[in-house]
Amino acid sequence: MAPLASERMLSRTIGRVGVLRLATRALATRVPIVGGNWKCNPKSAAELPELIANINSCDTSGCEVYVCPSPLHVALVQGKLTNGAVVAPQNCNFTGCGAYTGEMAVEQMKSMGISWVLIGHSERRGEFGLPTPAESSALLATKCKHAYENGFKVIYAIGEPLPVREKGISAVVAHCVEQLKPFKEMTLLDPDKIVLAYEPVWSIGTGVTASPKQAQETHAAIRAWLAKEVGKDTADRMRIQYGGSANAKNAPELSACPDVDGFLVGGASLKAEFKDIVSAVAKAKGQKRPMSKGV
Ligand code: PGA
Repeated sequence: MAPLASERMLSRTIGRVGVLRLATRALATRVPIVGGNWKCNPKSAAELPELIANINSCDTSGCEVYVCPSPLHVALVQGKLTNGAVVAPQNCNFTGCGAYTGEMAVEQMKSMGISWVLIGHSERRGEFGLPTPAESSALLATKCKHAYENGFKVIYAIGEPLPVREKGISAVVAHCVEQLKPFKEMTLLDPDKIVLAYEPVWSIGTGVTASPKQAQETHAAIRAWLAKEVGKDTADRMRIQYGGSANAKNAPELSACPDVDGFLVGGASLKAEFKDIVSAVAKAKGQKRPMSKGV
């Protein structure tokens, strides 16, 4: 393809290698991404229009947005988003349609026009406070592979419980690495297909947010592990969201952390302030979303 006039001018100024370096750096820039996880809310479908309006009020020009409605409400939300935000169900099975009572298959989602799914939330990993069977990271990797085979993109949640955090950052990173290992082994850590959501369990729904220092240190350590174990390009391009009592008040400070690429928001995604969280990270990163690509 013939170079644009501006590219020719740039090329004369800094030479061909310089242009290539600039292009690589531009590609390496991460577009922020914010998700709203409604969990098992709202109680009544009559409340959905207001929650959908919250999502539609987000400015998505500088940040990708997804919403995770409860399974019963997915079909009532899909098709109602007007600003480029997308629906990402809260779970999927690992094998497709069939005799799997109570499950949701990506094949069913695909036929509804859905192409993103959230997996690995700590509330599905046995941190639910009830004796429900935990989902292992190995099972989640199998789910991710099946989702990829159906053309899906995946949000994969990881994070440590309080006793691990109390042991210090090395224990935290070791815990997250264990959750990532099956994904590495199955070569699923592709930044074009997966977004990681670091969600310390002790901060979810508790009002105790990780400090910007804790969030940045942990995200940077996860990125360093990716660089060492998968590759620098993967590490540079992988988006890592923070989740755990994120809200409009703490979003600007957390967004200023260089390795925080957005948020997975629970409680505050049921409130009007959700759009302010989206704006805060878009402003901090100053990155325009490539509209042609969609979420
Ligand atoms: P929270 O939930 O924002 O209510 O803490 C976050 C999450 O569980 O994704």
